[in-house]
Amino acid sequence: MEDVEFTAASYAVPDQIISNDQLTQFMDTSDEWISKRTGIKRRHVSNTENTSDLALKAAEKTLAKANVAGEDLNLIIVATMSPDNMTPSTAAIVQGKLGAKNAVAFDISAACSGFSYGIAVARSMMLANGWQNAIVIGAEVLSKLLDWHDRSTAVLFGDGAGAVLLTHSSEQHLLGQDLETFGDLGDKLVAGHSEVEHDFLKNKHQLSTFTMAGREVYRFATHQVPSSIIKAAVQSKIDLDEIDHFLLHQANKRIIEQVARKLHQPLVKFPINIAEYGNTAAASEAILLAECIQKKIIKKNDVVALSGFGGGLTVATLIFRF
Ligand code: ACO
Repeated sequence: MEDVEFTAASYAVPDQIISNDQLTQFMDTSDEWISKRTGIKRRHVSNTENTSDLALKAAEKTLAKANVAGEDLNLIIVATMSPDNMTPSTAAIVQGKLGAKNAVAFDISAACSGFSYGIAVARSMMLANGWQNAIVIGAEVLSKLLDWHDRSTAVLFGDGAGAVLLTHSSEQHLLGQDLETFGDLGDKLVAGHSEVEHDFLKNKHQLSTFTMAGREVYRFATHQVPSSIIKAAVQSKIDLDEIDHFLLHQANKRIIEQVARKLHQPLVKFPINIAEYGNTAAASEAILLAECIQKKIIKKNDVVALSGFGGGLTVATLIFRF
């Protein structure tokens, strides 16, 4: 059977680390509140690097691991909700800097589900076109979209990028998938809104900062993520107990714990790195996946459920055999 497999993965985060205690110096919050409610201890925040810079670093490290040259790529997808520009796409910038002259490149906007959406789209295009190599990158510099004095959002997010190289395979790897969009709930999480001015000469050229109805997104995630994983498992014709690792979008440790309880699965099957990075939106699953491969937590033939959720609102689960 024709399919694609994960050949290499890597990630890049900015050097600057901001602890919860540092946030308390300019915001009415505490390490105790943030740690207890979310599991976050610190986050990496960019000084000068934009989304394409982090995406490029993650891509270069991934290609080096697989010993694949930029020009061997057929496709580059960057999932991001914090692109450098409206145009050119972040993926096009990465394509140019990698010298990936044979690759088609574009961005996907599906917030925290973007990495899973990106893998699903890349796989479909690779199989339809008989392509050999694609790189899917989740990359964000969310710090530039945050209001750093709004404690309801600023404490939650971080910057980073993760990348995975997908390569053509003659064995089946994708067992099942579930991608869903709930556009009627779009206003629950908004960033980068732009207004059309009544008087066109007074155009403000401004994008809105991040706003989120936290409790409602929490309820959405704890309901829709287990449901999506179950749908993907049914399509995969496997029992949940046969899944070795559940790699969930890292938005809140409590969401992950609740999903594990709802699925009657031990928490040890749910790797968590939110303490170090916070919520890095489209980059979060990608960074976690790269870390789990690097630490040999995920091994050949393991069954892995990747599940993202977030802005849109969106949810996306892919079940893969490595
Ligand atoms: N520090 C201290 N106190 C705070 C902070 C803070 N940083 N933020 C809020 N509070 C206060 C509130 O003002 C409120 O006080 P009150 O009771 O006096 O009114 C109290 O803490 C409780 O606030 P809630 O918002 O109800 O807290 P909750 O337990 O719901 O936790 C959180 C908030 C962490 C945002 C949670 O709702 C959550 O994780 N939601 C899901 C977010 C998510 O999953 N996003 C995913 C997608 S992200 C993407 O797509 C980009």
